[in-house]
Amino acid sequence: MSHSPGAGGASSTDRPELDTSVPHSARVWNHWLGGKDNYAVDREVGEQLRAMMPDVIVSARADREFLQRAVTYLVREAGLRQFLDLGTGLPTADNTHEVAQRLAPESRVVYVDNDPLVLVHAQALLVGTPEGATDYVSADVHDPGTVLREAARTLDFTRPVGLMMLGILNYVIGADEARSIVGELMGALPSGSHLVIGHPTADYDPEGMAELLRIWNSANPAEMRARNRTEVAALLDGLEPLEPGVVPASRWRPTAGTLYADRDVSQLCAVARKP
Ligand SMILES: C[S@@+](CC[C@H](N)C(=O)[O-])C[C@H]1O[C@@H](n2cnc3c(N)ncnc32)[C@H](O)[C@@H]1O
Repeated sequence: MSHSPGAGGASSTDRPELDTSVPHSARVWNHWLGGKDNYAVDREVGEQLRAMMPDVIVSARADREFLQRAVTYLVREAGLRQFLDLGTGLPTADNTHEVAQRLAPESRVVYVDNDPLVLVHAQALLVGTPEGATDYVSADVHDPGTVLREAARTLDFTRPVGLMMLGILNYVIGADEARSIVGELMGALPSGSHLVIGHPTADYDPEGMAELLRIWNSANPAEMRARNRTEVAALLDGLEPLEPGVVPASRWRPTAGTLYADRDVSQLCAVARKP
């Protein structure tokens, strides 16, 4: 499905069944961000997790602000006009295409997620500028070949791309597999492309994060993990991390209004350039 001049919109046949008996990360994340696109099971698990680790709310908000600063940098300073955003999440304020197209309306953005509810909302809401394009791909991050093949309908892989991987590599458990997925995706992109990572960490609240992971993994078939700073840095192998490197989301180039800029949050972030 594509939202670009002349492209078609959502059709009812695109809509898969939703399983509302199992919590899903996009909907729990939406609950933490104060959204309404979630079910009772998502709110229940979200509140359980929040009780274990009140900072999840802070981390989720800091992650979204980091996304805005990173995309702004990539459009303004690095000159990027194409983005591939894996693990879209439910539409909220300032999604990747909104930030990019506000600064450069011709920007082209492809979103990828495996949650049927995200698919339904994306089709309705992630509509871009007439000059640019916004496409949505239903695919799994564990299948980078499909992601690249589908994204190539909208993105030109001879020109630099911003690969957004916020809150998604935590669903890839093995270190080798995570490196291989990032390697395959970045390998398909030209020099000047950038990887943007956001990843939960136990570095600052080990007990809270351990309990959060225990509850999440007992309630959800899609296992999730945290990574420490060294493990996140390993995912940037072969790339040039921009200053200040791998840091809590709140500490990546904060501006005057950045929330929590004076404290560590349990979400590590980085932006790195492909040489
Ligand atoms: C925590 S949300 C992050 C949303 C957004 N990137 C952000 O940072 O605000 C994680 C997203 O990844 C998606 N996701 C989880 N596992 C996935 C998988 N194996 N393949 C594709 N998407 C996945 C979820 O559906 C959800 O939308």
